[in-house]
Amino acid sequence: MKMFREPFPITDEVVYMNVANHGPPSTPVKKAIETFLEDWDRLSRHGDVKVKEANASFAKLINADKEEVACQPNTSRGLAPVAASLGLGKGDNVVTNDLENWANVYPWTNLKAKGVEVRRVYGRDGAIQLEDIEKQVDDRTRVVSISQVQWLTGARHHLKPLADLVHDHGGYLVVDGIQAAGALKVDVKREDVDFYACGSYKWLLGPSGAGFLYARRELLDRIHPVEYGYRAIKKHSLDGPTLKETAEKLEFGEPSYLSFVGTKASIDLMNRLGLEEIENQILKLSQHLYDGLTELCVKLVSPEDKSLRSGVVSFTTKDTENHFKALKDEGFVISLRPAGIRVSTGFYNTMEEVDKLLERLKTLQ
Ligand SMILES: Cc1ncc(COP(=O)(O)O)c(C=O)c1O
Repeated sequence: MKMFREPFPITDEVVYMNVANHGPPSTPVKKAIETFLEDWDRLSRHGDVKVKEANASFAKLINADKEEVACQPNTSRGLAPVAASLGLGKGDNVVTNDLENWANVYPWTNLKAKGVEVRRVYGRDGAIQLEDIEKQVDDRTRVVSISQVQWLTGARHHLKPLADLVHDHGGYLVVDGIQAAGALKVDVKREDVDFYACGSYKWLLGPSGAGFLYARRELLDRIHPVEYGYRAIKKHSLDGPTLKETAEKLEFGEPSYLSFVGTKASIDLMNRLGLEEIENQILKLSQHLYDGLTELCVKLVSPEDKSLRSGVVSFTTKDTENHFKALKDEGFVISLRPAGIRVSTGFYNTMEEVDKLLERLKTLQ
């Protein structure tokens, strides 16, 4: 436990349970950024190396090869080029749902102008059900797009059955991973994911401004980027460039070096601590919170099914807004969202902190 907590000095000051909004930076993150800054004027352009290293660290985190990862500034910028680069057109359809963050809505609705049909599945009990997606998928479905963990209810969507479904129809599974990677053990190979986009600043516990896009190796030559920058180019020519053959063909211009340096340090810390251990700890905390909440007079928004549990638990109370304010004023760093109070526990949190929150909620009832 000490290993999990020590790198996060913020835990001495507040009860930080707001990772689904912004993850707290650890000491190694701050140190890596400081060191990079100190060397800034002496080592020109060494940032490029750092970005490649960050891509490789992320690849390790999700069990991908480093050639399958492109740097991006955030999740939105990771999803948009996938949607735009698959050559979708009239007669094709994309299956999405009403529980997505906007970052995973507009890349698909933008395709309507090209004659692509955007089919919407409606969530039930805070989650998207496989059988509801099954009803929408057919042989003209080119993409099913979903967030691995739903941002408001915390429902965890299991990816392999979705991948099997869409692959049976010749389409691709595109995943918004920002509420999952760094909290849950992600294995894009085992789960057969085709594209996976993720920003740095939530469960990866990095500074904002960095992000990653995984693109399965076998699909790289089927992606024809409509937008790219010099980082995507293998050979320049005034007649038009030759793009790289790796996922870097989806990259743009100079990224935020400082963000990638910090994010790499954070991912490396997680890879060292162990992804299984991190997931176990996060699920233990959120289950303890969920169980405690069921004994209080609150209405749980997060699904009851334990297999759908993630690091996020949301609920409403008889006076949600004021109870949120009271908790916030007392040093609980949490979020108020349209779905209610959202508590997102990091691996550095403790059972005692969860109990403290539950105790305080009990007195507010
Ligand atoms: C599920 C989900 N996807 C995407 C985003 C936005 O990500 P980014 O800022 O990295 O584009 C958020 C932010 O809250 C989110 O929760």
